[in-house]
Amino acid sequence: LEIADEKIIERVLNRLICTHCHAPYHLTFKAPRKAGICDICGNPLHKRPDDISEMLRVRQRAFQRVIKPVLEYYQQSRRLLVINADGPMEKVSAEIVAAVQSLQNQERRADAPTEPHRAPVIVSGIQPPARNKEAKTACHLILVGAPGSGKGTQAEALRDTFQLAHIATGDLFRENLKNQTDLGKLAKSYMDRGELVPDDVTEAMVEDRLAKSPPDSGFILDGFPRTLPQANALTEILSHFERHLDAALYIKVPDAVIENRLSGRRVCRKCQTPYHLLFKQPAQDGVCDLCGGELYQRDDDNPRTIRSRLETFHLQTTPIIKYYQDAGVLFEIDGQGDVAAVTRSSLAVIKTIQDSLR
Ligand code: AP5
Repeated sequence: LEIADEKIIERVLNRLICTHCHAPYHLTFKAPRKAGICDICGNPLHKRPDDISEMLRVRQRAFQRVIKPVLEYYQQSRRLLVINADGPMEKVSAEIVAAVQSLQNQERRADAPTEPHRAPVIVSGIQPPARNKEAKTACHLILVGAPGSGKGTQAEALRDTFQLAHIATGDLFRENLKNQTDLGKLAKSYMDRGELVPDDVTEAMVEDRLAKSPPDSGFILDGFPRTLPQANALTEILSHFERHLDAALYIKVPDAVIENRLSGRRVCRKCQTPYHLLFKQPAQDGVCDLCGGELYQRDDDNPRTIRSRLETFHLQTTPIIKYYQDAGVLFEIDGQGDVAAVTRSSLAVIKTIQDSLR
């Protein structure tokens, strides 16, 4: 069913689905007889939590990525029917019926279909920006590590030393939650359980954030990617923005050390700088040294959620270590020393990379 991206967005944003029988409705094109109630089974209608504008573009792109080989497969085996789905529902249904009937007639005549109904058009969801040669000299890094391994702490030091934009997916979700956006509310349910927010939601947010970062500045991605699909998506997003990844720094810390670190962590409500009750105390109790903001304990820094976050890391994130190792950009850093020692190791790696870019 072929249809332009902007039409899909219009359809999906106003879609309602029955909570019981899953029948789809639309506020304009197929309104239920009684507002908010399913015509078929009388149960309430709801909006799917992922039908939000932030995610639609990335869902489109993910769709194009996975569906392209499927379309090619059916086209090569001459079994592809492309139906123009941009029109009233009755017209689209009639066209599907006509196409299937024409196939059945051909089969009855024992004629295999010789040509597809119509060649598929693969629409690209994103237009790459014009090439910017400056972007080639900026340093682009990702920080990989278990929860509490010190990604945020190290990102802060690298950001200041090399003037890089610090993009932390956990902070972006918490910021959305603070502003009570749909995205923030959706992410919270996953974060509270120590699970990962779905890939498409996270990809959409990172892509949007990267699109806003000046093309000639470098960045540190802290906490993204965390799954193999996210790593693939990042490769694709960077190629769209004509950027490249210079290094993945893996901060390695044993689980036992992490539990101590997270239970004593306090974070600035305003600028997200992390502190620790023992290892990195602020000059004044409960107050951020950098911006004077209030320090608080994160909801997910409780023993139960910490254990679940660690499990999620071992299960879903460790495969990306091999992914970046195979790509030849992985640098392992021993994260067990004190903050200054880990920072020295991280800075040494980045300096080497920067020298190689000059
Ligand atoms: P996020 O906020 O990224 O949490 P995390 O990965 O669990 O990492 P943390 O922020 O807890 O730890 P950190 O490594 O930054 O350590 P820090 O420097 O603060 O993500 C939260 C949630 O959002 C996830 O659980 C998930 O639900 C969701 N999410 C985020 N990204 C996602 C994605 N890509 N896909 C899907 N879902 C996603 O240090 C910890 C403490 O130790 C601090 O108190 C610090 O002062 C101290 N410390 C640091 N280094 C040292 C050291 N060397 N010695 C002693 N103490 C130290």
